[in-house]
Amino acid sequence: MTSLRSVVVGTGSSLPARVVTNAELTERVDTSDEWIVQRTGIRQRYLAAPEETTSVLGTRAAQAALDDAGLSADDIDLVICATSTPDHTFPSTATQIQAALGIRQGAAFDLQAVCAGFVFAVTTADKFLTTGGARRALVIGAETFSRIVDWEDRTTCVLFGDGAGAIVLEAREAEAAEGRGVLSSSLRSDGRHRDKLYVDGGPGSTGTTGHLRMEGREVFRFAVGSVTDVIVEALERAGTTAADLDWFVPHQANRRIIEASADKIGIARDKIVLTVDRHGNTSAASIPLALDVARRDGRIREGDLVMIEAIGGGFSWGAALIRW
Ligand code: ACO
Repeated sequence: MTSLRSVVVGTGSSLPARVVTNAELTERVDTSDEWIVQRTGIRQRYLAAPEETTSVLGTRAAQAALDDAGLSADDIDLVICATSTPDHTFPSTATQIQAALGIRQGAAFDLQAVCAGFVFAVTTADKFLTTGGARRALVIGAETFSRIVDWEDRTTCVLFGDGAGAIVLEAREAEAAEGRGVLSSSLRSDGRHRDKLYVDGGPGSTGTTGHLRMEGREVFRFAVGSVTDVIVEALERAGTTAADLDWFVPHQANRRIIEASADKIGIARDKIVLTVDRHGNTSAASIPLALDVARRDGRIREGDLVMIEAIGGGFSWGAALIRW
């Protein structure tokens, strides 16, 4: 049997038009630029206008990724959209993006692992591609967390932003892939942590969308204390070490969490791709947004070893190692 690899052949991203600085937020809640920057590293975020829905942002990012790959709608036979803020309870945001792009073949579905959604989606797409279940996948992270944030709660509303990012993964025979592709991944979930980070509504409980609730200190402690296990496992599965990484592209929730995790694993600070300062926490969109930034500004190049890693509500967390 031929062995297959999922190779990244394009990236794209999309941000809402409106930038909101920390200073602007001080008009809304009792906070300060100094507090937000010192605790989180966030200086600004993008907030979606009513017509900039998750599927609109996701479609723009996916189209940009297709353009980057030099591919068209006819080339894609799998669309996975990681999101916790779908336009509607159903149909899936992925099917709306599929329709908007004019993709008529293959399957499209949403994947919900909150902030870890993109890592789960890449891992899922990789299973399809390497087992012959699909040939080319659009893997998208798209969110409008501004719709589920409680704008009266200063402990959470300052943290989040909206946006979308996407990559195109292509199945190639291992020999033709020349070492490139998704090399390994490691995913975990532990539902006992539900109350530390959740949304207090939903179609099956309150019949409302609900608002995000978070015990910030608990999330921080878990994020730094426990999630490095998936990074270590992904490295071990690929037979490599942190010293071999060219780039570490973690979920962009908080600069302090990112730097503490990198220090713990022994990843040099100059290998971290950091976008939380300008994007805020865009949940499942944060990693593909950061990947697109670092690829377009020339940092991530073909052949580089890239680690993506995230933790989100559930808790669910994961890491994947990609030879770009
Ligand atoms: N502006 C000013 N003061 C604030 C604000 C704000 N926006 N928010 C909270 N405070 C106050 C609190 O009321 C508290 O005041 P008190 O001491 O008088 O009671 C004080 O600041 C300290 O609050 P803490 O919650 O202890 O602050 P902490 O240092 O833990 O920082 C933060 C809070 C930034 C949320 C931190 O816990 C964190 O980053 N946690 C991780 C959560 C996270 O990133 N979640 C994102 C979603 S999950 C994910 O993506 C992984």
